[in-house]
Amino acid sequence: MHVEDNYRRPLLSLRISLTTRCNVNCFYCHRDGMVPSSREISAIDVKNICRVAADLGVKKIRLSGGEPLIRRDIVEIVKGINDVGFRDISITTNGTLLEEYSYLLKEAGLDRVNVSFDTLKLETYRFITKKDYLERVKAGIKSAVDAGLHPVKINMVVLKDLNHHEIWDMFEFCRENGAVLQLIELLKTDNCPDMGIECYHFDMAPLEEKLSRIADKVMTRKFMQDRKKYYIEDGEIEVVRPMDNTKFCANCTRLRVTPDGKLKPCLLRNDNLVDTTEALRTNDTEMLRQLFLEAIRRRAPYYDNESC
Ligand code: GTP
Ligand code: 5AD
Repeated sequence: MHVEDNYRRPLLSLRISLTTRCNVNCFYCHRDGMVPSSREISAIDVKNICRVAADLGVKKIRLSGGEPLIRRDIVEIVKGINDVGFRDISITTNGTLLEEYSYLLKEAGLDRVNVSFDTLKLETYRFITKKDYLERVKAGIKSAVDAGLHPVKINMVVLKDLNHHEIWDMFEFCRENGAVLQLIELLKTDNCPDMGIECYHFDMAPLEEKLSRIADKVMTRKFMQDRKKYYIEDGEIEVVRPMDNTKFCANCTRLRVTPDGKLKPCLLRNDNLVDTTEALRTNDTEMLRQLFLEAIRRRAPYYDNESC
């Protein structure tokens, strides 16, 4: 069973932000659309939310942040989701704590991981994150592959004149280490820090043209925002281009949960959230289910043909 929204888009994936805290400070970060909050839903709340989501046909759970591995109960959270029966559980992480957690998370039922990693150069890494964790992240990536998390995706936000000339080095790094490269278009949202990040915007269109020319095979992820995957020799590059992209939104199948327990229909909006606090406090599954249905009703493509 799947529940569709008013635009005939099924709900297939749930993205749960566990915290707004983060131990790096990337200058372009949209914080996954979250506004800072001190409350963080408990491992039991996450499990209850996932049970209702499973009943409504959700197939995939992604944990994100802030930085989700900062949560001391992260292994317990993953185990709870695994116990509900999900077979596609993933985490988006900055990778700084991954080396100590990869095996524990795999054992708890984590299937795969996406690691935010924009550069192989120490100076550039420092400039982007304001931290010195480059080697820790590399070690984290290696441990995730060794632990059998699959695929391990490297999220590289492509930044003009900062790292765009590193794309092919990054592809090589991914191939050498058994990871997939995911190239992400820089997105300017109301949530990004209030400084001029527009000058770093890199036009991905010529790059995608080149990829389609040299790829052995191209695949479209129909139920995943219509994203393209390019297979080149023994490597893989996925491209995420959400800006002004009506196809991206028309094929969006996900709902988000904020750290303080609100259902969030779209990354780019905060004016249509549905609060589940009371349902979670009283452990009322039916109320939680109705709130999910309301959030699904509120889902609407951010970029549609009229806005673009
Ligand atoms: P998988 O394909 O399942 O691995 O998930 P993912 O690639 O969406 O997860 P990840 O957290 O790694 O996100 C990668 C990029 O996609 C990030 O830059 C996100 O900002 C962007 N993104 C993910 N979901 C949305 C969305 O709903 N809307 C927009 N505009 N961008 C999104
Ligand atoms: N534009 C595009 N991607 C972004 N991310 C964070 N901020 C932005 C932005 N402004 C990416 C991070 C992380 C993922 C969840 O979102 O690299 O991997």
